[in-house]
Amino acid sequence: MKRFKRYLVTSALPYANGPIHIGHLAGVYVPSDIYTRYLRLKGEDVISVCGSDEHGVPITLKARKEGITPQQVVDRYHAINKKAFEDFGIAFDIYSRTSNKIHYETASDFFLNLYNKGEFIEKTSLQYYDNEAGCFLADRYITGECPHCHNENAYGDQCEKCGTSLSPSDLINPRSTISGSQPVMKETLHWYLPLDKYEPWLKKWILEEHTEWKTNVYGQCKSWLDQGLQPRAVSRDLDWGVPVPVKGAEGKVLYVWFDAPIGYISATRELTPDWEKYWKDPETRMIHFIGKDNIVFHCIIFPSMLKAEGSFILPDNVPANEFLNLENDKISTSRNWAVWLHEYLEEFPGKQDVLRYALCANAPETKDNDFTWKDLQARNNNELVAILGNFVNRTLVLANNYYSGKVPEPGDLSPFDKEVLESIPRLAESTAAAIENFRFREGLKEAMNLARLGNKYLADTEPWKLIKTEPGRVKTIINISLQITANLSIILEPFLPFSMKKLREWTGLDKIKWQDAGNVSLLPPGHQVNKGGLLFEKIEDEIINRQIEKLMNTRKENEGSAAGAAAVKSAVTYEDFSKMDIRTATVLEAEKVPKTAKLLKLKIDCGTDIRTIVSGIAEYYTPESMVGRQILIIANLEPRTIKGIESKGMILMAEDPNGKLTLVSPVEKTGNGSTVK
Ligand code: 2FM
Ligand code: ZN
Repeated sequence: MKRFKRYLVTSALPYANGPIHIGHLAGVYVPSDIYTRYLRLKGEDVISVCGSDEHGVPITLKARKEGITPQQVVDRYHAINKKAFEDFGIAFDIYSRTSNKIHYETASDFFLNLYNKGEFIEKTSLQYYDNEAGCFLADRYITGECPHCHNENAYGDQCEKCGTSLSPSDLINPRSTISGSQPVMKETLHWYLPLDKYEPWLKKWILEEHTEWKTNVYGQCKSWLDQGLQPRAVSRDLDWGVPVPVKGAEGKVLYVWFDAPIGYISATRELTPDWEKYWKDPETRMIHFIGKDNIVFHCIIFPSMLKAEGSFILPDNVPANEFLNLENDKISTSRNWAVWLHEYLEEFPGKQDVLRYALCANAPETKDNDFTWKDLQARNNNELVAILGNFVNRTLVLANNYYSGKVPEPGDLSPFDKEVLESIPRLAESTAAAIENFRFREGLKEAMNLARLGNKYLADTEPWKLIKTEPGRVKTIINISLQITANLSIILEPFLPFSMKKLREWTGLDKIKWQDAGNVSLLPPGHQVNKGGLLFEKIEDEIINRQIEKLMNTRKENEGSAAGAAAVKSAVTYEDFSKMDIRTATVLEAEKVPKTAKLLKLKIDCGTDIRTIVSGIAEYYTPESMVGRQILIIANLEPRTIKGIESKGMILMAEDPNGKLTLVSPVEKTGNGSTVK
């Protein structure tokens, strides 16, 4: 295999119009992070670049819907996503953004360069134009009747009811979503990259020279190339994006898929004045980490752009992943069917590695895969806790109990000891080989096999039974177990960076390099290790069930929102309303009512007195989550005895069409007993 001098790792720039979820992490960012961390550990010259993709029609649509500017939309999500990556230890060297000045310059120059070399075709075509708003309409800005299912609100690119792909001219009675008026066809000029010109070259470069690419990637490229390529427009009529930098192009911007991959170049320029050596020296190995929906852009269009420019290197590999589903359903932002990274961390604080582990062990490397909460629980409890955590903990505790944490001198080796010692470099090598070939699931499995072996070694040799009778033998066993522990802290570092950092602190191994992996005397005799603690903790059923329930509620809500809200009840007078004494109160204590599933007994301060209310909210709120909350109650409801408890009043709740209850509280805290009018 060719040896490279340096590496440039790129990870798909996520759109800054929503937060990122586990699908993004599993498909792109965990793999790219494992790869980068591995190369860094090897001491390679590597940079990893990413950033927000901040252009495109969906961002302008979101801004319009919220009544804010596109810049405000992308500012919000850029900050959220940047933090989410940091929180999960995704160690980019830079997380840039395509609304930066340096990106505008880079993308503009790139276009101009191709333009000046005559690489584009200029073509006019007819497109819908809104006369009232005075602008051309992107497909998503046009709605009308679907010619197939007659849904009245189909979009210009797709009918969301029957799923058919459309072009705006297919719509019956098209309307502009900007002004509501009927759009007219008008001529517009655009620039096209003649992909057909690059087809013979692409065929040779991919189909002949990159047969090592993943089957899913190679297959998709082949299918595109077999169908024949057409010129692709690289500009759009839109007012959000990088302006097309030529005369007569007012009101036109670069197509988002033209500027986004150039974002990798701008990010590198922003990172280092030495950026050219990463982009122009053939001794740099460039790897694009992406999801499968991005394959054509990274394997066909961007390489054609780079080829047309002429001075840039091409990707050496594009290890795209397939998709991750969630509990047997496609992840969907609009249906809120996702596990958002920031929410995960709120509910599982400090457990980044657990998610990284579950996502890598189950990564959609060759086919779409399913994430389930039960799988995360099983991976945590049966693998991280029972195998890795257990082995490390037993080793460190024994070393501390027997030798005050000083690494003992090994004695004569048994055949089993030798076998175990030989496995250490072998597993380090197979882990490395898997990572280098972008088979991260396999790499993780190989690395965990070392922990498995360690566990078996301790279980079979049972040093705790020999400590009195064969102290010399125990020294050897503990020494070997410690060497395994130290090796684990290296080979698992790319996968579980937070936990391995802890482990290295416990074993006093501060500076590591991948080349140390396989060394069976990493911790010399006399070296001090401490007792450490628990690397991972068991996740109980209750916690997992809560997550599953949350998703089931989302599913019900989705089904319910289609059904609609309850009809408005018949009219009442103000007098009727004012008979009710609704007031603010604070929950002082809360407990479950024994032998019931739905009831909580709450002690409440309602301003005038402290009273007990029994409420049917236990399915939605735990007792702990109720304490301290300010709520609304009906204070003058006749007392009732429920399960032998006198309940004085009622807590106000909002109920959705599915019967899901949500507490109602004052927007700002106020004194208890304030009346609601
Ligand atoms: O699919 C996406 O989320 C795109 N924003 C990826 C862009 S990758 C690159 F070209 F910037
Ligand atoms: Zn339709």
